[in-house]
Amino acid sequence: MIDSTTKLYGLLGNPVSGSRSPWIHNRVFETSRIQGAYLAFDVAEENLSQAVSGLRALGARGLNITIPYKTEIMAYLDSVDPEAAALGAVNTIFCDGDHWRGFNTDGPGLLAVLKRHVENLEDCRILVLGAGGAAKGICGTLLRGGIRHMGIWNRSPEKARQLLRTLQEMQIEGSDIMMVESEKRFDEFNLVINTTSVGMEPRTEETPVRISALHPKAVVCDIVYKPHKTRLIKDAQNEGHQVIHGIEMLIEQALLAQKLWNRLDEDSILQYRNILINEFEELHK
Ligand code: ATR
Repeated sequence: MIDSTTKLYGLLGNPVSGSRSPWIHNRVFETSRIQGAYLAFDVAEENLSQAVSGLRALGARGLNITIPYKTEIMAYLDSVDPEAAALGAVNTIFCDGDHWRGFNTDGPGLLAVLKRHVENLEDCRILVLGAGGAAKGICGTLLRGGIRHMGIWNRSPEKARQLLRTLQEMQIEGSDIMMVESEKRFDEFNLVINTTSVGMEPRTEETPVRISALHPKAVVCDIVYKPHKTRLIKDAQNEGHQVIHGIEMLIEQALLAQKLWNRLDEDSILQYRNILINEFEELHK
């Protein structure tokens, strides 16, 4: 229950109206004994600085940052974790008194999910669909996390080439990153990750890829979580592929943020993960 000891947590972005983060974090607060309340704040570009000052003055405890402020927010922080600095994007802030520290839990969240679902992930050949901001964070984390073989496909090849250059500039030892320009090469990969917005509500009939172009045993992962079962996930399931739903990544990045804010131990994380995934699936049956 909210009382005078309750700490403020929140999400800053624009737009944030469809975000599931308030549901996830408030469920964690309800299930644990942590006195917190999490709100979503739609902040206009010209108000970001004031919003940050206000939250500092009010003693906010933890924040998430979403599109379009993941890079801009870094200018307002007292320190940035090296991983987040390398990716050039912060999605989580731990407000430790006056000291605001920035982290990125998006990529590590996905990496943890993939490790749970895929054996010998380091040896996997991963095809990343998309070359936007989400793809950059995901590719960077996966390569830094030990993935060696990666292909990048994007609707606009020039953007894929740009991402390839950015990743090569990171000079991650042993990495083998390639452009994939034709669908004919999709079957060379055993894990496919959709980082594009294709299939997201309201255009739920769209899919970034023809399932028949993939290797029959490829694992298919979508970071889109609205709807819960995207067309890509449904097509993949119909063809017998192992799938990973977008909600798992969202929940994982949120639990990593909670770990930073409230020092959750592994047993609690396991407990909350199971509760959240089961409840989400129940709600979206
Ligand atoms: P984000 O930060 O969420 O990644 P973004 O930087 O705008 O957002 O990138 C969106 C990605 O989705 C891009 O890879 C984009 O492809 P283009 O570079 O060709 O625009 C991809 N995308 C969006 N709509 C698409 C569609 N209808 N078909 C294929 N790819 C699409």
